[in-house]
Amino acid sequence: MGEAFRYKDGEFYAEEVALSKIAESVGTPCYVYSYAALKDAFTGYRDAFSDVATLICYSVKANSNLSVLKSFADLGSGFDIVSLGELIRVKRAGGDPWKVVFSGVGKTAEEMKAALEAGILFFNVESVEELGLLNEVAVGLGKKAPVALRVNPDIDPKTHPYISTGFKKSKFGIEIGKAAEVYREASGMKGIEVVAIDAHIGSQIFDLTPFTDSLKKLIALADDLSASGIKIEYIDIGGGLGISYTKDEKPPKPAEYAAVIKSVLAGKPYKLVLEPGRSLIGNAGLLLTKVIYLKDGTAKKFVIVDAAMNDLIRPAFYDSYHEILTVRESGEPEGTVDVVGPICESGDFLAKDRPFPAVDSGDLLAVLSAGAYGFVMSSNYNTRPRAPEVLVNGSSFAVARKRETYDDLLKAETD
Ligand code: LLP
Repeated sequence: MGEAFRYKDGEFYAEEVALSKIAESVGTPCYVYSYAALKDAFTGYRDAFSDVATLICYSVKANSNLSVLKSFADLGSGFDIVSLGELIRVKRAGGDPWKVVFSGVGKTAEEMKAALEAGILFFNVESVEELGLLNEVAVGLGKKAPVALRVNPDIDPKTHPYISTGFKKSKFGIEIGKAAEVYREASGMKGIEVVAIDAHIGSQIFDLTPFTDSLKKLIALADDLSASGIKIEYIDIGGGLGISYTKDEKPPKPAEYAAVIKSVLAGKPYKLVLEPGRSLIGNAGLLLTKVIYLKDGTAKKFVIVDAAMNDLIRPAFYDSYHEILTVRESGEPEGTVDVVGPICESGDFLAKDRPFPAVDSGDLLAVLSAGAYGFVMSSNYNTRPRAPEVLVNGSSFAVARKRETYDDLLKAETD
């Protein structure tokens, strides 16, 4: 997980702040993010691509907290958005609309209008019908919508099926074989200005070959289009670089990713757009939780904690592995446990059959690598208020989102 989270004098720290201090101050469960870790991840990308014209558009869906967005905006990041809500967040956090790309298969006229008025860099259009509506909306506003077609390069990213997006049969993008024809149609539309090509093949990808295979296809298409008079300025290669969820996993570093991308792009006139999410924020966050009870069944031991699948759905949804450490440094594992939450579903677990040290009720645990697709996928299932989010910077920390109250939960409802 990098340097930002580590044991110091027998206790787990986020930068220079003991996690027990955060728990005391804001309670548990609680998300904790490290500014140093997100900054390191961003500058890692920025430095790796500094010798080619590149815009890094942080993928807002991974973690859309305003403090996180502001941190990336201040570091010079652009943003990849998929909804009007995310555009509103980016603007509120001081992000530059000129550095925003807008993806997603179901953009509405309202969302298109808002993005055109904000003046975003380009729309990643995912279907012919969407292109037609965007043209209409732009003409209505007396504007031209800058457009990339999101093409589907039909590539296997070799990751979890739920987060693979570049297959022929997936709902995303326009089949690459049909793209040239759609580009020709787009270039004749009054409200459309073709500027880019885009693909995003999936998430949590460790093998660099699918990225370069996809990029080669995009370049071939961009070259053909340019030769036929349709000028392509940007190639957007999406996000998807994986992170380590265990100590043994060794995903490629941004520098290795950059090296292969740059070698494929060498000599080409296109500017690069990247949409990383998980690899910028995933290992910059953890979920802090407290043991409520221990339960020693005949077949299994359970550690029942105050965080649940409504707080972190990844284990239940994707069978994902998140490392769990005791905040007070502990010895070797003593047995195997399931770490589970209080929700009334058997799928409510954070870890299954996990070798675990001895713990007591009241002990704090840190669920690692929870900075991406953690809080943003949380819900109020079982009428549980969503957890607060805390941003640590050096020896200080600030509440980036307060814990929801029961009033917050009920205020939109009528009885
Ligand atoms: N661009 C587009 C168009 C995307 O759909 C995504 C993620 C990204 C960029 C950022 O991908 P990343 O660099 O974060 O891999 N909830 C799942 C992950 C879903 C990813 C959805 N799209 C999980 O928890 O693993």
